[in-house]
Amino acid sequence: MVVLVTGANGQLGQALQLVSGNYPEISFVFCASADLDITDKNNCATVFAKYQPHYCINSAAYTAVDKAESEPEKAYLINVVGAQNLAEVCQKQQTVLLHVSTDFVFDGSKTIPYTEEDSTNPMGVYGQTKLDGEHAIREIMTEYYIIRTSWVYSQFGNNFMKTMLRLASERDSLSVVNDQIGTPTHAVDLAEALIKIIQTNNQQPTTNNFGIYNFSNEGQCSWYDFAKKIFEVNHININLLPIPTSNYPTPAKRPAYSVLDKGKMKRVFGIRIDSWEDSLKNTKITN
Ligand SMILES: NC(=O)c1ccc[n+]([C@@H]2O[C@H](COP(=O)([O-])OP(=O)(O)OC[C@H]3O[C@@H](n4cnc5c(N)ncnc54)[C@H](OP(=O)(O)O)[C@@H]3O)[C@@H](O)[C@H]2O)c1
Repeated sequence: MVVLVTGANGQLGQALQLVSGNYPEISFVFCASADLDITDKNNCATVFAKYQPHYCINSAAYTAVDKAESEPEKAYLINVVGAQNLAEVCQKQQTVLLHVSTDFVFDGSKTIPYTEEDSTNPMGVYGQTKLDGEHAIREIMTEYYIIRTSWVYSQFGNNFMKTMLRLASERDSLSVVNDQIGTPTHAVDLAEALIKIIQTNNQQPTTNNFGIYNFSNEGQCSWYDFAKKIFEVNHININLLPIPTSNYPTPAKRPAYSVLDKGKMKRVFGIRIDSWEDSLKNTKITN
């Protein structure tokens, strides 16, 4: 079984590379942006013709939430046109597409976890382009899994955990917002969940379980709670202050509440999900 991974040098791409050795039955083809530019239709066709993948995990994306507000065309090109190109080539080659999306498709007005059926209403350019990317895929093909996730962190790339650790080495005191509630997702847990979807689909190819799924770690917290736990597990003493979002204005608005309900994912794929605290404790920082 051949699984092609786009955006292989991103957080999720590197997490997939990390766990790939645990799955010798899968031939992974890892494509960084230099190997496969998803905005280039011809490049997609050539790469897919060469590797003939049974599955494609799209971990390529424009993920700069604030910057997207000032460069919407670039965000659209990668998150919408890129998703569309992959859907078209997957449809042509009979490749099952696993596409990763975001909790930022929601406006955060709910107070209980979002299910896959809840209405979407993105608050910014990034969320809107991710939602448009989902729609593009759904219009083109049926054999897709769209996995919405939230607050992704890992030892790789840029993320909140690494920013907190860097800032703690430079300052004695930090202020972090405590009125945005969501759930951190360890990229390695997400990588394992994606592979579990592939294994299940591969074992029961007739099962019609395509569609949208939520995945994050279990539980919920504010960014302040997340920062507090990051410092606790790394034995860092710092003066950490909770502040409201109004004291930390950013170009993009973010949902005040974006906890995802994982019931469907657990039911359909039998996935056991760790709490965000346990997963954070097990995160090794090696770079
Ligand atoms: N990070 C989060 O907190 C978060 C939250 C919710 C959902 N998500 C979703 O989770 C997925 C994975 O996110 P991540 O955190 O792993 O993102 P990331 O670390 O920013 O990685 C994105 C990757 O996409 C690549 N890329 C950009 N444009 C490309 C193109 N035209 N063709 C091919 N590759 C391209 C980038 O390569 P270059 O560096 O070479 O440009 C980068 O390696 C994304 O779909 C994202 O929307 C992320």
